[in-house]
Amino acid sequence: MIPASADVAPAPVRIDAATLSGPRFAALPPLALYVHIPWCLRKCPYCDFNSHEAKGEAPEAAYVDALVADLELALPSIWGRRVFSVFIGGGTPSLFSAAAIDRLLAAIRARVPLEPGCEITLEANPGTFERERFHGYAEAGVTRLSIGVQSFDDAKLQALGRVHDAAQARAAIDEAKAAFATFNVDLMYALPGQTLAECTADVEAALAFAPPHVSIYHLTIEPNTLFAHAPPPLPDDDAAAAMLDRIAALTADVGLDRYEVSAFARPGHRSRHNVNYWEFGDYLGIGAGAHGKISFPHRIVRQVRLRDPAAYLAGAERGAAVASENEVARADLAFEFMLNALRLRDGFSLARFSERTGLPLSAIERPLAEAERRGLVVRDLQSVRPTPLGFDFLSDLQQLFLPSGS
Ligand SMILES: C[S@@+](CC[C@H](N)C(=O)[O-])C[C@H]1O[C@@H](n2cnc3c(N)ncnc32)[C@H](O)[C@@H]1O
Ligand code: SF4
Repeated sequence: MIPASADVAPAPVRIDAATLSGPRFAALPPLALYVHIPWCLRKCPYCDFNSHEAKGEAPEAAYVDALVADLELALPSIWGRRVFSVFIGGGTPSLFSAAAIDRLLAAIRARVPLEPGCEITLEANPGTFERERFHGYAEAGVTRLSIGVQSFDDAKLQALGRVHDAAQARAAIDEAKAAFATFNVDLMYALPGQTLAECTADVEAALAFAPPHVSIYHLTIEPNTLFAHAPPPLPDDDAAAAMLDRIAALTADVGLDRYEVSAFARPGHRSRHNVNYWEFGDYLGIGAGAHGKISFPHRIVRQVRLRDPAAYLAGAERGAAVASENEVARADLAFEFMLNALRLRDGFSLARFSERTGLPLSAIERPLAEAERRGLVVRDLQSVRPTPLGFDFLSDLQQLFLPSGS
């Protein structure tokens, strides 16, 4: 019976909002920093990244100031956390002088604790290659150069609207080998008019440099690009599939492990920064149009910075560089996790799913069982990994985890 007397106070009912509505995290994931540089020498006709032709000199000094202001305002959201990877991407970060990159990295180090051995990657376009400048990036602390080569065939490079030729690509790779602890070569395949023999020649040319890492992307026609308005003749699906089989065989022959759909690495040379995305880790994104994902004890927040470079510069100056900030809905967490984790050949551990989404495993039991039934994943008591069939039909596999009702 409930006592009626006023001198027996009812025990307070503790309602933990997190158990009702959101996830809860026992520990926060690793944290990386992404820095976006939004200018290029020329806009490539296939590219839908936030990149803009630099008409004249890019305003590098003002932009570094803006990045530093942006970072300072973001510090409370990552307070007390260490950063294990910095990625300076674009656009074309190698348009910036070594002095500007040095100032940027010094400013980051002064504000954010970087873990010992922190990976610091910079994306470079061979069209900006100068030996002194690339060497200067290494002196500024860049540990990993990622070079956008795309092809070693001058006619293909022209068809792609690239600003460089194969000789410049080779010179940039030679410098990366000499000056950096590790490096990556970006290639694309299924290029306009490309034959299997031409694709093979491109991959063999890249492998001749014994790169510790290569990323090989299927050229996709993205909406709102010049190629979408005037599509070039492209290899059909069967031809592209034959190219991918050849790429898989050639890379395996030289000991490169296909650890992600498009990424191949020698042991110890995986891109730690990208692996963190695929493992649903956290990243603060600063710079025009940069995306970020930050976990807090009871929620995950996604942020996007102002996209237009001039608007970003002005916004950062008045302390308003963030264009949008949204909490990831509990219903979307499993799908967002799977979009990333299933790209990895080794999949994910069950413990990591709960650790990174704050959800119980029961949240994915049904779609997981369905994926297994269709032969798209295999699982044991510890982990889930895509099968070769699941890797080939990745988007079908990922769709199984869409929240019901979407
Ligand atoms: C943001 S770019 C950075 C590299 C640098 N801007 C460059 O292009 O030299 C990263 C890579 O994405 C790939 N990429 C860009 N657009 C693509 C598309 N439409 N389809 C496939 N891969 C693409 C290219 O291989 C490119 O090197
Ligand atoms: S150089 Fe790279 S980022 Fe710039 S337009 Fe070309 S592909 Fe896009």
